Amino acid sequence: MSAQQSKVLAIIGQGYVGLPLAMAAVDAGWIVIGVDNFAAKVDQINGGTSPVEDVSGQQLQTAISNGLYRATTDFSEITKASVVTICVPTPLNDNREPDLSLLRSAATGIAPHVSENTLVVSESTSYPGTLRDIIIPIVNELKPVGTENVYFACAPERVNPGDAIWNQKNTPRLVGGIDQESQIRALAFYNSICDAVVAVSNPEVAEAAKLLENTFRLVNIALINEFTQICSASGINVHEVISAAASKPYGFMPFTPGVGVGGHCIPVDPLYLTWWARQNGGEATFVESADRINQEMPRYVAERALRMVDGNVATPRVLILGVAYKSGVGDVRETPVTELRSYLQDRGAKVAWHDPMVPFWEGTNPVDLDWDCDVAILATNQPGLDFSQLVAKGVQILDCTNSITGKSGATSI
Ligand SMILES: NC(=O)c1ccc[n+]([C@@H]2O[C@H](COP(=O)([O-])OP(=O)(O)OC[C@H]3O[C@@H](n4cnc5c(N)ncnc54)[C@H](O)[C@@H]3O)[C@@H](O)[C@H]2O)c1
Repeated sequence: MSAQQSKVLAIIGQGYVGLPLAMAAVDAGWIVIGVDNFAAKVDQINGGTSPVEDVSGQQLQTAISNGLYRATTDFSEITKASVVTICVPTPLNDNREPDLSLLRSAATGIAPHVSENTLVVSESTSYPGTLRDIIIPIVNELKPVGTENVYFACAPERVNPGDAIWNQKNTPRLVGGIDQESQIRALAFYNSICDAVVAVSNPEVAEAAKLLENTFRLVNIALINEFTQICSASGINVHEVISAAASKPYGFMPFTPGVGVGGHCIPVDPLYLTWWARQNGGEATFVESADRINQEMPRYVAERALRMVDGNVATPRVLILGVAYKSGVGDVRETPVTELRSYLQDRGAKVAWHDPMVPFWEGTNPVDLDWDCDVAILATNQPGLDFSQLVAKGVQILDCTNSITGKSGATSI
């Protein structure tokens, strides 16, 4: 590693994970090269406009104008870096199985440009063995001739977009190196950025821990979604039950029901676990059942909403409030509202939507809040979503977010 390379970091993928990491590294004294193969996004970023909520335009512009950050589509810039982190998507394919094509192409792009002593870290979520069996063989096969020592680790990202408290710096980071020297280097790198680093004995432990974390959320959300349906059938307000149970000071953690699960992580990562279990001759039946319950929630919500409409209405007009997968972000990836809308349409409803954080969604424009509807579904309670006028007008609202209490017309799921 040359002196010039010592505090230069290259990050592959400038999205919800890569860009906040870039800013955290700049704050920690690193010069960061943000590599992304989406040219329009690179231009947007270099123009000082952030594509993600957790990085402000101001923060980005300051880093760029101080010469501490720049985005590029050119993988050869990696030669300047001592550390390369991979932050590309790890989605599911059409069979709902791991699709590692972007991860493979990132590794293929990196390989010719690693230098002696480069540390390559995967932050992307995947099943145990991904670093060892996929990334490392690609890099070792395609690295420049004569490059002897390339180091590898896994440090799964735990960022929670839109979270005002927990970020890259103060969230403890798991680090699992492929060997002792890789571990030393990876720990030094993350110690320079994060307040707390947790060393684990190998990359597979780090990869498995990430799947456990997100599967824990999936199954608990499924539990509360199922429990909600049981309570509702008996006329019991589930939210009151949850807060009553949460008064127990130990052994209980409250989760809340909703339209389903969305985003790039919770509906996706547990299926990396179920796939991995099958590869090893096992079966993650509990997780598969949780996945099924969550997937059925949009249909349950749609039926509940349609039951609130006068039976004489031939074509119910349904207004969906909030289409992003969670509050505080404009991210619509894997949003369960997609299923909700298509189920309502299949049942003959005319559906419109409104979300102050989403300007355009799946080929459709939002409507104003005064769109005439028979029922509204509060799917995601976004900041700036002023549903008070609907409440004042006495519009029937099915509240999936526990945001409206004690108002006539509003019903909680
Ligand atoms: N978003 C989250 O909340 C979150 C949290 C923790 C972990 N993760 C994990 O982090 C990883 C990245 O997720 P994300 O949400 O940042 O994705 P994202 O879609 O927001 O960003 C990924 C970026 O990578 C770019 N890209 C894709 N393939 C590329 C390639 N081969 N070379 C260069 N650039 C490429 C895309 O253009 C995109 O800009 C995933 O594995 C995800 O599961 C995400």
